[in-house]
Amino acid sequence: MNFGTVTRMCKLAVFASGNGSNFQSIVDAIAHGQLMATCEVLICDQPDAKVIERAKKANIPAFVFDMKQFANKTEFERAILKKLREYDVTFIALAGYMRLIGSTLLEAYAQKIVNIHPSLLPAFPGLDAIGQAFQAGVKVTGVTIHYVDSGMDTGPIIAQKAIDLTEDETEESLREKIHAIEHVLYPQTLGKVMGGLNE
Ligand code: GAR
Repeated sequence: MNFGTVTRMCKLAVFASGNGSNFQSIVDAIAHGQLMATCEVLICDQPDAKVIERAKKANIPAFVFDMKQFANKTEFERAILKKLREYDVTFIALAGYMRLIGSTLLEAYAQKIVNIHPSLLPAFPGLDAIGQAFQAGVKVTGVTIHYVDSGMDTGPIIAQKAIDLTEDETEESLREKIHAIEHVLYPQTLGKVMGGLNE
């Protein structure tokens, strides 16, 4: 019998809809030993999303669930849930997944789903939060990581990081700054909530 230290690694599923730079930062943090977890699967709802290529390159199984192929949201989420169970997934990170999570997944993964959003919530929820903040002329915006509930970018906040806008800030420069922060803050925060960060 082995009485040595037992490390229970979180088995993560990342959900994404688009480019997948946050998916990449999570995969890279795991590869560099900065995040003690395994990324078991990518779940994607957009057949042509760039994130699928990223998963293939990283040898992570990628599954596309196209809402159009399902009768309703419950059926859609039941199919996803079946896949998550096949891979024994214990935690879900939404990384640019542009769809509300429904009751099927919320009940199966209560307190085990987190999301990243590119604003200081509760300001600027929803689509294009960076553009919304820039157009509003705010002097400070940032990034939020929160537990997911049934609302749009709502749920208990876990971590936030603020950014000051400079006098000559453009929407593009702000976008770059936000993404750079996301790529550090998300793996770090996941490590903390999943209980195993290597620093
Ligand atoms: C990220 O900025 C993420 O915070 C945002 O989508 C982007 C995805 O980028 N999420 C939301 O707006 C959620 N409401 P990525 O595909 O390069 O990771």
